[in-house]
Amino acid sequence: MPSKRLVILGGGGFRVPLVYGALLGTDSPIGEVVLYDVDPGRLRTIGRVLRAQAALVGHAPGISATTDLTEALTGADFVFSAIRVHGLEGRVIDGPVALGEGALGQETVGAGGIAYGLRTVPVVRAIARRISLVAPEAWVINFTNPAGLVTEAMSAYLGDRVIGICDSPSALARRVVRALGLAPGEGQISYAGLNHLGWLTGVRQGEQDLLPRLLADAARLESFEEGRLFGAARLRQLGAVPNEYLHYYYNHAELVRASLAAPETRGEFLLKQQRQCYAELASADDGDAFQAWDAARRQRDATYLAMEGLGERDDAEGGGYEDVALALMLAIARDSRQELILNVRNRGTLPELDDDAVVEVPCAVSAAGARPLPSAGLPAHGVDLVKRIKSADRGILTAASTGSRAVAVRAMAAHPLIDSVPVARRLIAEYQGRLPELGYLS
Ligand code: G6P
Ligand code: MN
Repeated sequence: MPSKRLVILGGGGFRVPLVYGALLGTDSPIGEVVLYDVDPGRLRTIGRVLRAQAALVGHAPGISATTDLTEALTGADFVFSAIRVHGLEGRVIDGPVALGEGALGQETVGAGGIAYGLRTVPVVRAIARRISLVAPEAWVINFTNPAGLVTEAMSAYLGDRVIGICDSPSALARRVVRALGLAPGEGQISYAGLNHLGWLTGVRQGEQDLLPRLLADAARLESFEEGRLFGAARLRQLGAVPNEYLHYYYNHAELVRASLAAPETRGEFLLKQQRQCYAELASADDGDAFQAWDAARRQRDATYLAMEGLGERDDAEGGGYEDVALALMLAIARDSRQELILNVRNRGTLPELDDDAVVEVPCAVSAAGARPLPSAGLPAHGVDLVKRIKSADRGILTAASTGSRAVAVRAMAAHPLIDSVPVARRLIAEYQGRLPELGYLS
């Protein structure tokens, strides 16, 4: 009898039905899903979508909802944390403010990511502390962006019980495996970095590394998203396939120009789409709620990253967040050994970073949690960038614990895409003027 309690923080979020849907297709151990959100209206709306979803299948986990965090967490076996502090409205501030200074406005990279991190870290610390008191045995699966930074902030309270996830490394691995003509899951992937800042550096089969073969074949390389994004020549130079988010570092100026010329940002598009969708869902008949949500979801996927200059994604075939989260949860619950690329504490895996630094690397997952596998390491050309971003992240964590604006400015200025103290000062001032959650910095 499935009996475990899964709590979803940010339970009124748009992607929650994907998570619930992933539970329906398996004999998952989850008997009860508890939605927690600060917004009761969004909770009600998503609750209706889930109930419509549940009605489509024979038996489904029970659904309840609350705006009381302690009530939600009590008795939790698994906690999915997927919150967005200041909502999409915040994303709409992050991006344009950065662009105003000629810096990229992406939600997790550069100035926008730092603003997002500065307002999110204090909130996730409070949540992590509460979890450590109310549900110390729970496994916490963090989806909240910037996922690496947020996981590191939570790990100070939860240790290795918090594990961060992202869909981009596994999607990249899947595409590379397919381009090599291997069957899904074949080949041992080497991947290393931080969240949204990593490289696939090898695909081993027995003693052989198949990646050089792929790098030599331009047609195969350009048959998949990252190959087209970076181009065969660049990939050969790197000797690795970067995560799609490296585009923001490698082609920053070009992307800033494209964003400035674009009629709207990704955030603005999503904010409009979501407002309309939640309004429609609130008035839809109960039975239609799921279809209405699904149509909006397909539109969101089809336009992923397009507005930020990354073009259209070539595999909206699933294998997204919800599947990574489900695979992780099942491997823990069933103690089935499974390899997944996850955000965990370094513990010597990447020698350039200290033990407590959260890194994104292949891990072995079992009932004991996620343990990083021995790593082939970072590519030499990535070491500096990773160290600089980790140090900017540490600045964000320190700014959030000390409340020091000067430290926040230093973190912003330390980021290679900003690299200027006056620009960093103006950015922090502008963000503070627009985001009340940053009022703690003085
Ligand atoms: C990918 C990233 C996530 C990010 C999402 C943004 O899945 O791995 O970290 O949240 O894209 O998608 P969106 O539809 O919000 O632009
Ligand atoms: Mn991600």
